[in-house]
Amino acid sequence: MSALFDLSGRSALVTGASGLLGAHFARVLADAGARVVMAARRLDAMAETATEISAEAVRLDVTDPASIAAAFDAAGPIDILVNNAGIAVTKPVLAQTPEDFDQVLDVDLRGCFLVAQEAARRMVAGKRPGSIVNIASILGERIIPGVAGYTAAKAGLLHLTRQMAVELARHSIRVNAIAPGYIASDINAEFFASEPGQAMIRRVPQRRLGQPGDLTGPLLLLASDAGAHMTGSTITVDGGHSVSSL
Ligand SMILES: NC(=O)c1ccc[n+]([C@@H]2O[C@H](COP(=O)([O-])OP(=O)(O)OC[C@H]3O[C@@H](n4cnc5c(N)ncnc54)[C@H](OP(=O)(O)O)[C@@H]3O)[C@@H](O)[C@H]2O)c1
Repeated sequence: MSALFDLSGRSALVTGASGLLGAHFARVLADAGARVVMAARRLDAMAETATEISAEAVRLDVTDPASIAAAFDAAGPIDILVNNAGIAVTKPVLAQTPEDFDQVLDVDLRGCFLVAQEAARRMVAGKRPGSIVNIASILGERIIPGVAGYTAAKAGLLHLTRQMAVELARHSIRVNAIAPGYIASDINAEFFASEPGQAMIRRVPQRRLGQPGDLTGPLLLLASDAGAHMTGSTITVDGGHSVSSL
């Protein structure tokens, strides 16, 4: 059965690999046998994990097409792309500046498009089948106040996933998304320890935050041949948060 999820002989590029989830995704893919290329702007923040899992680390700014091309040149042929880089600006709608909104769309939507397009162009040119996994969010379908750019970008990313899936199927490239709920991290630890944070956790049917490890199975399913007939899909991983009636 484990052969179904085996990624030996495959090469994977993970964006945002200097962050919490990107580093986890890089480890998971390496554990499954893939050659892994970690990509982000901060090379120093990837160095330790890259050494541990024998991955390459390349500099990548997803807002810059030249940087994207250079990263793929350095990475060599890629079979699996995890489009994970993402940012948020938290301000009420009335306070968001054009720059705030542009900055988030630039990374979370345009960046994902440009990186996926570059990966797909190279897969097609090399006649390689491929799997692209876009890391969206349950906020692509629901909202919380203060993150207008983020919710709009993640909603766009879910639809872009479907668009690219349809257009790239003829090239044997699958495009799917994972929509995580709230994942425990250093950045949100203080909020989730507070009363509003605890109240939010009580609205999750499973009554807990996600851990990076909760995304391991969904990632492997979409990245590997286990998901061979899946394209244009979104896997929600949120402990039931987005279907909660509360
Ligand atoms: N954590 C959660 O609760 C949660 C829930 C749902 C969805 N997500 C999504 O999961 C993804 C990863 O989240 P995370 O929690 O791991 O965030 P994180 O720790 O803040 O990591 C964000 C990553 O994005 C990279 N990045 C930002 N701007 C970039 C740019 N211009 N070019 C290239 N890379 C850039 C950062 O790398 P550099 O700064 O080194 O470039 C960093 O590696 C995001 O798309 C996020 O929206 C997270």
